[in-house]
Amino acid sequence: MNNIVLNVDAATQKISRHIYGHFAEHLGHCIYGGIWVGEKSSIPNVRGIRTDVVNALRGLNIPNLRWPGGCFADDYHWRDGVGPYESRAEMVNAHWGGVTEDNSFGTHEFMELCGMLNCEPYICGNVGSGTVREMSDWVQYLTSAAKCPMTDLRRANGREEPWKVSYWGVGNEAWGCGGNMKAEYYADVYRQYATYLRRQPNNTLYKIAVGANTDDYHWTDVMMREAARFMDGISLHYYTVTGTWKDKGSATEFGTDEWFTCLKKTLFIDELITRHGAVMDTHDPEKRVGLIVDEWGTWHDVEPGTNPGFLFQQNSLRDALVAGLNLNIFNSHADRVHMANIAQTINVLQAMVLTRDEEIVLTPSYHVFEMYKDHQDATAIPLRLSADAYEHNGEKIPAINASASINSAGMTLITICNVHPSDAVELQCELRGAGASEVVGRVLTAPEITAFNSFDSPETVSPKPFDGAELRGSSIRVRMPAKSVVALHVK
Ligand code: AHR
Repeated sequence: MNNIVLNVDAATQKISRHIYGHFAEHLGHCIYGGIWVGEKSSIPNVRGIRTDVVNALRGLNIPNLRWPGGCFADDYHWRDGVGPYESRAEMVNAHWGGVTEDNSFGTHEFMELCGMLNCEPYICGNVGSGTVREMSDWVQYLTSAAKCPMTDLRRANGREEPWKVSYWGVGNEAWGCGGNMKAEYYADVYRQYATYLRRQPNNTLYKIAVGANTDDYHWTDVMMREAARFMDGISLHYYTVTGTWKDKGSATEFGTDEWFTCLKKTLFIDELITRHGAVMDTHDPEKRVGLIVDEWGTWHDVEPGTNPGFLFQQNSLRDALVAGLNLNIFNSHADRVHMANIAQTINVLQAMVLTRDEEIVLTPSYHVFEMYKDHQDATAIPLRLSADAYEHNGEKIPAINASASINSAGMTLITICNVHPSDAVELQCELRGAGASEVVGRVLTAPEITAFNSFDSPETVSPKPFDGAELRGSSIRVRMPAKSVVALHVK
């Protein structure tokens, strides 16, 4: 029997809305074509930014957007991307397809996008090929009200008032594309850069150090030991790769072997957060420093016939389950996980939205973010879950995964995933310390595990009203369909 006990009266830990963050890199058609089409485009836009994409993303209440990379960040020189378009320098996007980047989407355009989405910017600065001065100047250009060359330049470029920018990444993947550094070396580099990222009056700065790749606990230990007092957050990157990095597997052509492996590998993030968190606890028992999972999601083979450097992949019901599992796990670690950013928003990796010229389609992952959005800034409800196993070829994972929260209006949100590809599951949810008078739900599922939304069939995987939840006193009996994500709002 599957059972969830929700200790509503023990709920104290806020789930930061920033766990529901996103990431948009200058990579493939994420920025160019996905977000930015330019003012002269026939695709409807406001000051060059696609209207349909902004409208779609507004449906997610995006709390923050990380930009401009990724690996691109450590090649990016921000001054090439400000000022009149005609005089912006071109560059080659060496990481992603070797294409020419004309820098038409730069700092002002990004800040405009954040304004349209009503989200906070999370800017990742260049450590790998940049300088301390360049990064320090960028912070000043964005956030200072004082008169100085950087703010004169900003004003000359049309922006009088400083912006507010809290979240600031000091490089990206310094252990890899961001400089191939050792932890011991980067710790000192980080301290130097962080010193010159100056907080301006009226702007807080939340400084994020490059953290570990997957299970590199040594990196976390060194960084926390040497530099914790200079940082507010430290990152963690973990991608779900079903196969190997060389042969990752198709996004839409797979069987139950790949279904199982993909979901099992996704659940590994729970162990990663627990173990990195334990290392952080030894240096920061008060949990002041946030673990910032600023790249996560599935990484499949690119769609056949597309540029291998553009990382364009389809997004199936399996990706929806991956999103649901990750978000449940982040919610349950909200004491340490202060932010997370799925990679990436549009047309790249586990995207929310795919575009083809003027067409747009919402992915199954989009729908999970939309169904989970009321967890943002709600209070996590501690839960105890007993779940049957989903067994495949002698291996097991729990069939059910869940998280819950209660918001300031007293509304409880329970989000549940049934990862079993063919078996429905009966589940008892017991609410302790709270009454319940009404439950309404939505479900995301599809007839096939490989189902996805195409431009021709955009609604194949989309949420439907859920009639499988029945209130019995302070318990809810839930009949979860196979391969489904369910969101229940309980009053
Ligand atoms: O998201 C794609 C790439 O994955 C990012 O640029 C990099 O940080 C990571 O390796």
